Amino acid sequence: MDLIIASKSETRQRILSCALISTKAISPQIDEDSITRSLVAENATPRDIADTLAEHKAKKVSIKNPETWVLGGDQILAFEGEVFGKPETPNALKRTLTRFSGQTHRLITANVIYKNAEPVWRHVAVSHMTMYPITEADIESYVAEAWPNAQHTAGGYYFEENPHLFSKVKGNWFDIMGLSIEPIVGFLNRQNSELKFRPPKLAAVLGHPISHSKSPRMHGHWLKTNSISGDYIAIDIPPQRFSETLRVLITAGVLGFNVTVPHKEKALLLSDHRSATAEKIGAANTLVIDVNGKINADNTDGYGFITNLRSHCKHWVPEAGPALVLGAGGASRAILVSLLEAGVPKIYLSNRTPQRALDVASKLSPLIEVISWEHKEHCLTKIMTMVNTTSLGMTGKPPLKIDISTIKPAALVADLVYAPIETPLLKQAKTLGCSAVGGIGMLLYQGVPGFEAWFGIRPVVNAEIEALVIQ
Ligand code: ATR
Repeated sequence: MDLIIASKSETRQRILSCALISTKAISPQIDEDSITRSLVAENATPRDIADTLAEHKAKKVSIKNPETWVLGGDQILAFEGEVFGKPETPNALKRTLTRFSGQTHRLITANVIYKNAEPVWRHVAVSHMTMYPITEADIESYVAEAWPNAQHTAGGYYFEENPHLFSKVKGNWFDIMGLSIEPIVGFLNRQNSELKFRPPKLAAVLGHPISHSKSPRMHGHWLKTNSISGDYIAIDIPPQRFSETLRVLITAGVLGFNVTVPHKEKALLLSDHRSATAEKIGAANTLVIDVNGKINADNTDGYGFITNLRSHCKHWVPEAGPALVLGAGGASRAILVSLLEAGVPKIYLSNRTPQRALDVASKLSPLIEVISWEHKEHCLTKIMTMVNTTSLGMTGKPPLKIDISTIKPAALVADLVYAPIETPLLKQAKTLGCSAVGGIGMLLYQGVPGFEAWFGIRPVVNAEIEALVIQ
Protein backbone atom coordinates (compact mmCIF):
# COMPACT_ATOMS: atom_id res chain seq x y z
CA MET A 1 0.00 0.00 0.00
CA ASP A 2 1.33 3.43 -0.92
CA LEU A 3 0.61 6.66 0.81
CA ILE A 4 1.61 10.03 -0.54
CA ILE A 5 2.79 12.51 2.02
CA ALA A 6 2.17 16.07 0.91
CA SER A 7 5.23 17.45 2.64
CA LYS A 8 8.97 18.03 2.31
CA SER A 9 9.46 17.25 6.00
CA GLU A 10 12.09 14.56 6.52
CA THR A 11 10.85 14.06 10.08
CA ARG A 12 7.32 13.15 8.90
CA GLN A 13 8.72 10.82 6.23
CA ARG A 14 10.93 9.17 8.80
CA ILE A 15 8.01 8.53 11.17
CA LEU A 16 6.03 6.83 8.39
CA SER A 17 9.00 4.78 7.31
CA CYS A 18 9.62 3.71 10.95
CA ALA A 19 5.99 2.54 11.02
CA LEU A 20 6.82 0.45 7.91
CA ILE A 21 4.38 2.46 5.77
CA SER A 22 5.75 2.92 2.28
CA THR A 23 5.36 6.49 1.13
CA LYS A 24 6.15 8.87 -1.63
CA ALA A 25 6.74 12.52 -0.76
CA ILE A 26 5.33 15.26 -2.98
CA SER A 27 5.83 18.87 -2.01
CA PRO A 28 2.46 20.67 -2.24
CA GLN A 29 3.85 24.18 -2.95
CA ILE A 30 1.15 26.22 -1.28
CA ASP A 31 1.57 29.75 0.02
CA GLU A 32 1.33 28.96 3.74
CA ASP A 33 2.05 32.53 4.84
CA SER A 34 -0.76 34.16 2.92
CA ILE A 35 -3.25 31.45 3.94
CA THR A 36 -2.23 31.87 7.58
CA ARG A 37 -2.48 35.67 7.37
CA SER A 38 -5.99 35.57 5.94
CA LEU A 39 -7.11 33.00 8.54
CA VAL A 40 -5.67 35.14 11.35
CA ALA A 41 -7.51 38.17 9.90
CA GLU A 42 -10.75 36.15 10.03
CA ASN A 43 -10.08 35.31 13.72
CA ALA A 44 -9.76 31.60 12.99
CA THR A 45 -8.69 29.51 15.99
CA PRO A 46 -5.12 28.07 16.01
CA ARG A 47 -6.72 24.64 15.64
CA ASP A 48 -8.57 25.72 12.51
CA ILE A 49 -5.47 27.35 11.06
CA ALA A 50 -3.39 24.15 11.43
CA ASP A 51 -6.25 22.00 10.13
CA THR A 52 -6.89 24.27 7.12
CA LEU A 53 -3.20 24.34 6.19
CA ALA A 54 -2.94 20.54 6.46
CA GLU A 55 -6.07 20.27 4.30
CA HIS A 56 -4.75 22.66 1.62
CA LYS A 57 -1.58 20.60 1.30
CA ALA A 58 -3.37 17.27 1.04
CA LYS A 59 -5.96 18.62 -1.41
CA LYS A 60 -3.42 20.16 -3.77
CA VAL A 61 -1.53 16.87 -4.12
CA SER A 62 -4.71 14.75 -4.17
CA ILE A 63 -6.13 16.58 -7.20
CA LYS A 64 -3.21 15.27 -9.27
CA ASN A 65 -3.14 11.86 -7.55
CA PRO A 66 -6.81 11.00 -6.97
CA GLU A 67 -6.33 7.23 -6.60
CA THR A 68 -3.91 7.38 -3.69
CA TRP A 69 -4.30 8.29 -0.02
CA VAL A 70 -2.68 11.70 0.44
CA LEU A 71 -1.64 12.84 3.91
CA GLY A 72 -1.20 16.52 4.72
CA GLY A 73 0.12 17.91 7.98
CA ASP A 74 0.74 21.19 9.69
CA GLN A 75 1.88 22.55 13.05
CA ILE A 76 1.09 25.86 14.69
CA LEU A 77 2.01 27.13 18.14
CA ALA A 78 -0.42 29.18 20.15
CA PHE A 79 0.44 31.48 23.05
CA GLU A 80 -1.40 34.44 24.57
CA GLY A 81 -3.82 34.72 21.64
CA GLU A 82 -1.09 34.69 19.00
CA VAL A 83 -0.01 31.98 16.60
CA PHE A 84 3.56 31.08 15.68
CA GLY A 85 4.79 29.02 12.71
CA LYS A 86 8.31 28.45 11.48
CA PRO A 87 10.54 31.39 12.42
CA GLU A 88 11.31 33.62 9.44
CA THR A 89 14.62 35.05 10.66
CA PRO A 90 17.06 34.39 13.52
CA ASN A 91 15.78 37.55 15.21
CA ALA A 92 12.18 36.36 14.95
CA LEU A 93 13.27 33.09 16.60
CA LYS A 94 14.95 35.03 19.43
CA ARG A 95 11.75 37.00 20.00
CA THR A 96 9.64 33.81 20.02
CA LEU A 97 11.93 32.08 22.52
CA THR A 98 11.91 35.17 24.75
CA ARG A 99 8.09 35.04 24.75
CA PHE A 100 8.01 31.28 25.50
CA SER A 101 10.68 31.44 28.23
CA GLY A 102 9.26 30.10 31.50
CA GLN A 103 5.77 29.79 29.96
CA THR A 104 3.44 27.09 28.63
CA HIS A 105 2.36 27.26 24.99
CA ARG A 106 0.23 24.90 22.91
CA LEU A 107 1.64 23.01 19.95
CA ILE A 108 -1.13 22.08 17.55
CA THR A 109 -0.56 19.26 15.08
CA ALA A 110 -3.13 18.75 12.35
CA ASN A 111 -3.24 15.84 9.91
CA VAL A 112 -5.71 15.41 7.07
CA ILE A 113 -6.05 12.52 4.60
CA TYR A 114 -7.53 12.99 1.14
CA LYS A 115 -8.64 10.62 -1.57
CA ASN A 116 -10.20 11.54 -4.93
CA ALA A 117 -9.69 15.18 -4.00
CA GLU A 118 -12.03 14.77 -1.00
CA PRO A 119 -11.15 14.81 2.70
CA VAL A 120 -11.70 11.36 4.22
CA TRP A 121 -10.05 11.69 7.64
CA ARG A 122 -8.72 14.43 9.92
CA HIS A 123 -7.13 14.68 13.33
CA VAL A 124 -5.88 17.49 15.54
CA ALA A 125 -3.55 16.88 18.51
CA VAL A 126 -2.77 19.56 21.09
CA SER A 127 0.44 19.26 23.13
CA HIS A 128 1.18 21.54 26.09
CA MET A 129 4.83 22.55 26.22
CA THR A 130 6.34 24.28 29.26
CA MET A 131 9.75 25.84 28.70
CA TYR A 132 12.35 26.54 31.34
CA PRO A 133 13.20 30.21 31.74
CA ILE A 134 16.03 30.92 29.25
CA THR A 135 18.46 33.79 29.62
CA GLU A 136 19.10 36.20 26.77
CA ALA A 137 22.66 34.88 26.48
CA ASP A 138 21.39 31.28 26.18
CA ILE A 139 18.90 32.33 23.50
CA GLU A 140 21.71 34.08 21.58
CA SER A 141 23.97 31.02 21.65
CA TYR A 142 21.10 28.60 20.91
CA VAL A 143 20.01 30.60 17.84
CA ALA A 144 23.59 31.00 16.59
CA GLU A 145 24.12 27.24 16.78
CA ALA A 146 20.72 25.77 15.97
CA TRP A 147 19.36 28.15 13.30
CA PRO A 148 20.16 25.91 10.25
CA ASN A 149 17.87 23.17 11.61
CA ALA A 150 15.59 25.23 13.84
CA GLN A 151 14.30 27.40 10.99
CA HIS A 152 12.47 24.41 9.52
CA THR A 153 10.50 23.55 12.66
CA ALA A 154 7.38 25.14 14.10
CA GLY A 155 8.43 27.42 16.94
CA GLY A 156 12.09 26.86 16.04
CA TYR A 157 13.07 24.99 19.18
CA TYR A 158 13.66 21.68 17.42
CA PHE A 159 12.33 19.49 20.23
CA GLU A 160 14.01 16.23 19.13
CA GLU A 161 17.42 17.83 19.67
CA ASN A 162 16.46 20.00 22.63
CA PRO A 163 14.00 18.33 24.99
CA HIS A 164 16.10 19.73 27.87
CA LEU A 165 14.66 23.16 27.13
CA PHE A 166 11.33 21.94 28.55
CA SER A 167 10.43 21.45 32.20
CA LYS A 168 7.10 19.80 31.38
CA VAL A 169 5.42 18.37 28.31
CA LYS A 170 1.87 17.07 27.99
CA GLY A 171 1.82 15.39 24.62
CA ASN A 172 3.03 12.47 22.55
CA TRP A 173 6.48 12.46 20.92
CA PHE A 174 5.16 11.82 17.40
CA ASP A 175 2.46 14.50 17.71
CA ILE A 176 5.19 16.93 18.77
CA MET A 177 7.25 15.82 15.75
CA GLY A 178 4.31 16.73 13.48
CA LEU A 179 2.62 13.43 12.66
CA SER A 180 -0.09 11.78 14.77
CA ILE A 181 1.04 8.32 13.80
CA GLU A 182 -1.19 6.29 16.10
CA PRO A 183 -4.54 7.51 14.71
CA ILE A 184 -3.10 7.50 11.16
CA VAL A 185 -2.17 3.83 11.57
CA GLY A 186 -5.67 3.17 12.94
CA PHE A 187 -7.26 4.85 9.90
CA LEU A 188 -5.14 2.92 7.38
CA ASN A 189 -5.82 -0.43 9.10
CA ARG A 190 -9.57 0.25 8.99
CA GLN A 191 -9.42 0.73 5.22
CA ASN A 192 -8.17 -2.75 4.56
CA SER A 193 -8.34 -5.67 6.98
CA GLU A 194 -5.11 -7.06 5.50
CA LEU A 195 -3.18 -4.06 6.77
CA LYS A 196 -1.68 -4.56 10.20
CA PHE A 197 0.36 -1.43 10.75
CA ARG A 198 1.45 -0.60 14.29
CA PRO A 199 2.45 2.75 15.72
CA PRO A 200 6.25 2.84 16.14
CA LYS A 201 7.76 2.23 19.56
CA LEU A 202 10.52 4.67 20.43
CA ALA A 203 13.79 4.18 22.32
CA ALA A 204 16.76 6.52 22.71
CA VAL A 205 20.36 6.71 23.88
CA LEU A 206 21.04 9.58 26.30
CA GLY A 207 24.52 11.02 26.81
CA HIS A 208 26.59 14.20 26.77
CA PRO A 209 28.12 14.40 24.20
CA ILE A 210 26.25 11.83 22.12
CA SER A 211 26.94 12.49 18.43
CA HIS A 212 29.70 9.82 18.42
CA SER A 213 27.33 7.07 19.63
CA LYS A 214 27.11 3.96 17.50
CA SER A 215 23.92 2.79 19.19
CA PRO A 216 21.43 4.43 16.76
CA ARG A 217 23.09 2.69 13.83
CA MET A 218 23.11 -0.64 15.65
CA HIS A 219 19.51 -0.55 16.90
CA GLY A 220 18.35 0.98 13.60
CA HIS A 221 19.80 -2.03 11.79
CA TRP A 222 18.08 -4.47 14.15
CA LEU A 223 14.73 -2.65 13.74
CA LYS A 224 15.06 -2.79 9.97
CA THR A 225 16.20 -6.38 9.64
CA ASN A 226 13.45 -7.57 12.02
CA SER A 227 10.75 -5.44 10.30
CA ILE A 228 9.77 -3.82 13.59
CA SER A 229 7.70 -0.67 13.75
CA GLY A 230 10.01 1.45 15.86
CA ASP A 231 12.73 4.07 16.02
CA TYR A 232 15.89 4.59 18.06
CA ILE A 233 17.44 8.03 18.36
CA ALA A 234 20.30 9.79 20.16
CA ILE A 235 19.56 12.69 22.51
CA ASP A 236 22.16 14.95 24.09
CA ILE A 237 21.15 15.98 27.60
CA PRO A 238 23.29 18.36 29.67
CA PRO A 239 24.06 16.76 33.08
CA GLN A 240 22.23 19.41 35.13
CA ARG A 241 18.92 18.61 33.35
CA PHE A 242 19.16 14.81 33.15
CA SER A 243 16.43 13.82 35.64
CA GLU A 244 13.88 16.35 34.45
CA THR A 245 14.48 15.66 30.76
CA LEU A 246 14.20 11.91 31.30
CA ARG A 247 10.76 12.54 32.85
CA VAL A 248 9.75 14.72 29.90
CA LEU A 249 10.76 11.98 27.46
CA ILE A 250 8.90 9.31 29.42
CA THR A 251 5.76 11.47 29.46
CA ALA A 252 6.11 11.88 25.69
CA GLY A 253 5.98 8.09 25.34
CA VAL A 254 9.63 7.04 24.91
CA LEU A 255 9.61 3.48 26.27
CA GLY A 256 13.27 2.64 26.65
CA PHE A 257 16.70 4.17 27.00
CA ASN A 258 20.35 3.40 26.84
CA VAL A 259 22.29 5.70 29.09
CA THR A 260 25.92 6.59 28.60
CA VAL A 261 28.58 8.93 30.04
CA PRO A 262 28.00 11.02 32.18
CA HIS A 263 24.47 9.96 33.17
CA LYS A 264 24.84 6.29 34.20
CA GLU A 265 25.04 6.82 37.98
CA LYS A 266 22.19 9.35 37.96
CA ALA A 267 20.05 6.96 35.91
CA LEU A 268 20.43 4.29 38.58
CA LEU A 269 19.54 6.70 41.40
CA LEU A 270 16.40 7.85 39.58
CA SER A 271 15.08 4.39 38.83
CA ASP A 272 12.09 2.79 40.58
CA HIS A 273 13.43 -0.80 40.30
CA ARG A 274 17.06 -1.88 39.83
CA SER A 275 18.64 -5.18 38.87
CA ALA A 276 21.10 -6.60 41.40
CA THR A 277 23.89 -6.21 38.81
CA ALA A 278 23.15 -2.51 38.22
CA GLU A 279 23.05 -1.98 41.97
CA LYS A 280 26.43 -3.67 42.40
CA ILE A 281 28.03 -1.74 39.54
CA GLY A 282 26.48 1.49 40.84
CA ALA A 283 25.38 2.58 37.38
CA ALA A 284 22.67 1.82 34.82
CA ASN A 285 23.03 1.68 31.05
CA THR A 286 19.58 0.29 30.13
CA LEU A 287 16.20 1.63 31.23
CA VAL A 288 12.88 -0.02 30.50
CA ILE A 289 9.76 2.05 31.16
CA ASP A 290 6.71 0.07 32.23
CA VAL A 291 3.08 0.88 31.43
CA ASN A 292 2.81 3.02 34.57
CA GLY A 293 5.83 5.10 33.63
CA LYS A 294 8.04 3.42 36.25
CA ILE A 295 11.75 3.12 35.43
CA ASN A 296 13.39 -0.34 35.55
CA ALA A 297 17.17 -0.04 35.51
CA ASP A 298 19.72 -2.61 34.47
CA ASN A 299 23.39 -2.63 33.60
CA THR A 300 24.20 -4.83 30.61
CA ASP A 301 27.84 -3.73 30.13
CA GLY A 302 29.18 -6.73 32.04
CA TYR A 303 26.83 -9.08 30.21
CA GLY A 304 28.04 -7.60 26.90
CA PHE A 305 31.66 -7.97 27.93
CA ILE A 306 31.41 -11.60 29.06
CA THR A 307 29.19 -12.68 26.14
CA ASN A 308 31.69 -11.14 23.75
CA LEU A 309 34.60 -12.95 25.42
CA ARG A 310 32.79 -16.27 25.29
CA SER A 311 31.71 -15.84 21.68
CA HIS A 312 35.28 -15.05 20.54
CA CYS A 313 37.08 -17.47 22.78
CA LYS A 314 35.07 -20.64 23.39
CA HIS A 315 37.78 -22.20 25.54
CA TRP A 316 38.04 -19.26 27.99
CA VAL A 317 37.72 -20.60 31.54
CA PRO A 318 37.27 -17.74 34.04
CA GLU A 319 38.09 -20.03 36.98
CA ALA A 320 41.47 -20.98 35.44
CA GLY A 321 43.37 -18.17 37.18
CA PRO A 322 43.46 -14.54 38.33
CA ALA A 323 42.77 -11.56 36.11
CA LEU A 324 44.53 -8.22 35.68
CA VAL A 325 42.24 -5.23 35.11
CA LEU A 326 43.71 -1.89 34.07
CA GLY A 327 41.70 1.20 34.95
CA ALA A 328 39.23 2.02 37.71
CA GLY A 329 36.80 4.34 35.93
CA GLY A 330 33.13 3.84 35.08
CA ALA A 331 33.73 1.04 32.58
CA SER A 332 35.98 -0.84 34.98
CA ARG A 333 33.30 -1.43 37.64
CA ALA A 334 31.09 -3.37 35.21
CA ILE A 335 34.06 -5.47 34.08
CA LEU A 336 35.12 -6.26 37.67
CA VAL A 337 31.60 -7.29 38.71
CA SER A 338 31.12 -9.46 35.62
CA LEU A 339 34.51 -11.18 35.98
CA LEU A 340 33.77 -12.04 39.61
CA GLU A 341 30.27 -13.26 38.69
CA ALA A 342 31.81 -15.41 35.94
CA GLY A 343 34.04 -17.11 38.51
CA VAL A 344 37.45 -15.42 38.23
CA PRO A 345 39.09 -16.33 41.58
CA LYS A 346 41.08 -13.12 42.07
CA ILE A 347 41.58 -9.77 40.34
CA TYR A 348 44.65 -7.54 40.34
CA LEU A 349 43.44 -3.98 39.77
CA SER A 350 45.81 -1.27 38.61
CA ASN A 351 45.01 2.38 38.02
CA ARG A 352 47.09 5.50 37.44
CA THR A 353 45.32 7.09 40.42
CA PRO A 354 45.64 4.36 43.10
CA GLN A 355 43.02 5.83 45.43
CA ARG A 356 40.33 5.34 42.79
CA ALA A 357 41.26 1.65 42.52
CA LEU A 358 41.28 1.28 46.32
CA ASP A 359 37.79 2.83 46.53
CA VAL A 360 36.42 0.49 43.86
CA ALA A 361 38.04 -2.57 45.45
CA SER A 362 36.76 -1.79 48.93
CA LYS A 363 33.23 -1.36 47.61
CA LEU A 364 33.19 -4.45 45.40
CA SER A 365 35.08 -7.42 46.82
CA PRO A 366 38.00 -8.63 48.97
CA LEU A 367 39.00 -10.70 45.93
CA ILE A 368 40.26 -7.50 44.27
CA GLU A 369 43.88 -6.60 45.10
CA VAL A 370 45.10 -3.16 44.10
CA ILE A 371 48.58 -3.10 42.60
CA SER A 372 50.66 -0.10 41.57
CA TRP A 373 50.46 1.33 38.06
CA GLU A 374 54.25 1.39 37.83
CA HIS A 375 54.59 -2.33 38.61
CA LYS A 376 51.50 -3.70 36.90
CA GLU A 377 53.64 -6.07 34.79
CA HIS A 378 54.70 -8.00 37.91
CA CYS A 379 51.52 -10.06 38.08
CA LEU A 380 51.52 -11.05 34.39
CA THR A 381 53.07 -14.48 35.02
CA LYS A 382 50.17 -15.39 37.34
CA ILE A 383 47.14 -14.29 35.34
CA MET A 384 44.87 -16.03 32.81
CA THR A 385 42.76 -12.99 31.82
CA MET A 386 43.79 -9.39 31.21
CA VAL A 387 41.49 -6.47 30.44
CA ASN A 388 42.27 -2.87 29.50
CA THR A 389 39.33 -0.69 30.58
CA THR A 390 41.19 2.63 30.20
CA SER A 391 40.95 4.78 27.10
CA LEU A 392 44.68 4.37 26.48
CA GLY A 393 45.41 3.03 23.01
CA MET A 394 42.27 4.59 21.55
CA THR A 395 42.71 6.68 18.41
CA GLY A 396 43.64 10.18 19.55
CA LYS A 397 44.57 9.10 23.10
CA PRO A 398 48.07 8.28 24.48
CA PRO A 399 49.28 4.70 23.96
CA LEU A 400 48.99 2.08 26.70
CA LYS A 401 52.59 1.51 27.72
CA ILE A 402 52.91 -2.07 28.92
CA ASP A 403 55.25 -4.93 28.10
CA ILE A 404 53.21 -8.13 28.35
CA SER A 405 55.97 -10.49 27.15
CA THR A 406 55.86 -12.52 30.39
CA ILE A 407 52.14 -13.36 30.06
CA LYS A 408 51.17 -17.03 29.60
CA PRO A 409 50.32 -17.90 25.98
CA ALA A 410 47.15 -19.59 27.26
CA ALA A 411 45.90 -16.26 28.70
CA LEU A 412 43.17 -14.17 27.16
CA VAL A 413 43.75 -10.44 26.57
CA ALA A 414 40.76 -8.15 26.09
CA ASP A 415 40.67 -4.46 25.26
CA LEU A 416 37.52 -2.36 25.65
CA VAL A 417 38.92 0.06 23.08
CA TYR A 418 37.38 -0.52 19.62
CA ALA A 419 38.91 2.31 17.61
CA PRO A 420 41.27 1.04 16.27
CA ILE A 421 39.69 -2.40 15.99
CA GLU A 422 43.03 -4.01 16.76
CA THR A 423 44.90 -2.02 19.40
CA PRO A 424 48.69 -2.31 19.91
CA LEU A 425 47.91 -4.31 23.09
CA LEU A 426 45.90 -6.87 21.11
CA LYS A 427 48.63 -7.07 18.44
CA GLN A 428 51.22 -7.75 21.14
CA ALA A 429 48.96 -10.42 22.71
CA LYS A 430 48.49 -12.21 19.38
CA THR A 431 52.23 -12.37 18.67
CA LEU A 432 52.65 -14.03 22.09
CA GLY A 433 50.05 -16.69 21.20
CA CYS A 434 47.34 -15.32 23.51
CA SER A 435 43.67 -15.04 22.57
CA ALA A 436 42.90 -11.39 21.84
CA VAL A 437 39.41 -9.87 21.99
CA GLY A 438 38.55 -6.29 20.99
CA GLY A 439 35.84 -4.00 22.34
CA ILE A 440 33.34 -3.74 19.49
CA GLY A 441 31.57 -6.98 20.39
CA MET A 442 30.92 -5.76 23.93
CA LEU A 443 29.17 -2.70 22.50
CA LEU A 444 26.99 -4.94 20.32
CA TYR A 445 26.11 -7.52 22.98
CA GLN A 446 25.33 -4.94 25.68
CA GLY A 447 22.57 -3.65 23.39
CA VAL A 448 20.82 -7.01 23.06
CA PRO A 449 18.83 -7.18 26.36
CA GLY A 450 17.53 -3.61 26.00
CA PHE A 451 16.42 -4.15 22.41
CA GLU A 452 14.59 -7.32 23.40
CA ALA A 453 12.86 -5.64 26.36
CA TRP A 454 11.69 -2.64 24.30
CA PHE A 455 10.83 -4.23 20.97
CA GLY A 456 10.05 -7.85 21.88
CA ILE A 457 12.61 -9.62 19.66
CA ARG A 458 16.07 -10.79 20.68
CA PRO A 459 18.41 -9.37 18.01
CA VAL A 460 21.32 -11.26 16.52
CA VAL A 461 24.93 -10.13 16.76
CA ASN A 462 26.73 -11.15 13.56
CA ALA A 463 29.52 -10.08 11.22
CA GLU A 464 27.11 -7.89 9.25
CA ILE A 465 26.22 -5.66 12.21
CA GLU A 466 29.81 -5.64 13.39
CA ALA A 467 30.93 -4.33 9.99
CA LEU A 468 28.15 -1.74 10.01
CA VAL A 469 29.05 -0.44 13.46
CA ILE A 470 32.79 -0.14 12.85
CA GLN A 471 32.36 1.89 9.66
P1 ATR B 1 35.37 5.23 31.73
O1 ATR B 1 34.04 5.51 32.30
O2 ATR B 1 35.36 5.07 30.24
O3 ATR B 1 36.09 4.12 32.41
P2 ATR B 1 36.79 7.22 33.22
O4 ATR B 1 35.88 7.01 34.36
O5 ATR B 1 37.18 8.60 32.90
O6 ATR B 1 36.18 6.59 31.91
O7 ATR B 1 38.10 6.33 33.45
C1 ATR B 1 39.11 6.32 32.52
C2 ATR B 1 40.19 5.35 33.00
O8 ATR B 1 41.31 5.50 32.17
C3 ATR B 1 40.66 5.65 34.44
O9 ATR B 1 41.06 4.46 35.02
C4 ATR B 1 41.84 6.56 34.19
O10 ATR B 1 42.78 6.60 35.22
P3 ATR B 1 42.64 7.69 36.41
O11 ATR B 1 41.66 7.12 37.37
O12 ATR B 1 44.02 7.77 36.97
O13 ATR B 1 42.20 8.97 35.77
C5 ATR B 1 42.44 5.90 32.96
N1 ATR B 1 43.32 6.82 32.24
C6 ATR B 1 42.93 7.84 31.42
N2 ATR B 1 44.01 8.46 30.91
C7 ATR B 1 45.10 7.82 31.42
C8 ATR B 1 46.52 7.98 31.28
N3 ATR B 1 47.04 8.93 30.48
N4 ATR B 1 47.33 7.13 31.94
C9 ATR B 1 46.83 6.18 32.74
N5 ATR B 1 45.51 5.98 32.93
C10 ATR B 1 44.66 6.79 32.28
